[in-house]
Amino acid sequence: MILLDGKKLSEKILAQLKKQVSQLQKKPVLAMILVGDDPASAIYVRRKKIFCEEVGIISKTLKLPARTSEKKLLAIIDKLNKDKNVTAIMVQLPLSGHMSKNKIIEAINPRKDADCLHPANYGKFAQVDENYSVVAPATPFGIIKLLEEYKIKIEGKHAVVVGRSNIVGKPAAQLLLSRGATVTICHRHTKNLAAFTRQADILVVAVGKRNLIRGNMMKKGVVVIDVGMNRFGKKIFGDVDFPSVSKKASFISPVPGGVGPTTIAILLWNTVQLAHLDSRLDSVNPRRTSRLAKRAKK
Ligand code: GUN
Repeated sequence: MILLDGKKLSEKILAQLKKQVSQLQKKPVLAMILVGDDPASAIYVRRKKIFCEEVGIISKTLKLPARTSEKKLLAIIDKLNKDKNVTAIMVQLPLSGHMSKNKIIEAINPRKDADCLHPANYGKFAQVDENYSVVAPATPFGIIKLLEEYKIKIEGKHAVVVGRSNIVGKPAAQLLLSRGATVTICHRHTKNLAAFTRQADILVVAVGKRNLIRGNMMKKGVVVIDVGMNRFGKKIFGDVDFPSVSKKASFISPVPGGVGPTTIAILLWNTVQLAHLDSRLDSVNPRRTSRLAKRAKK
């Protein structure tokens, strides 16, 4: 059994991004909005900030109280959209129930959408052609990068995705499908889950339930991608029961150290893509270019 080392891959991606950022005239600026005091979300945002520093991306964390109204958050996003210095925006999810997640995501300028969650980006990615979108969903794209890094063939394989979220399950299925896998998506209403997971050559589990998948639910040689992040005591566990699954799997992404670091690396990759887009738009917008030239002369 071989561990899919997401930390090592993320370091490789970050090194490439660092080089790209050093060549950019204007440094990318990622604004991260964190609403409320969910400890897990706070940890994710802090880790993203550390990764940004490593690459040379300027990050700004806007911490807002849990009672922040939807109207107020929309106004903040509007301000960030208009701020020429901010090249990318990310709202940490989940948001509390008093806000419409869709409304918040749709308020982000698609040209600053670091998560590829805005329908304009996600639609291009999912419906038109994934390369038509400047950005890609971070966790699913990180999964593909991880499979590619270890030269794991996707074409012709049966990929079973457990979980149907917009952020992981659905786009992961989409990417596997476009690479020639036969894809089955399982979810909370799937009857006899093990009957499906046992067919998997590649098994992606993104549910958020510790020990949901055990070794007796899979065939020998399966490639397991564990997207779960479940806090139990002071430790973090994935969705698969590692001791029994590792006896069956040929490859497995560990938790922590698997898809977590690659997700952040792709978020930053998106941020750099958006900065490239911004600089291209600068160069084709004569009004903005002349304004910038005037500013530079001052
Ligand atoms: N919460 C858990 N994963 C993610 C992610 O990839 N992006 C955002 N914005 N929030 C998350």
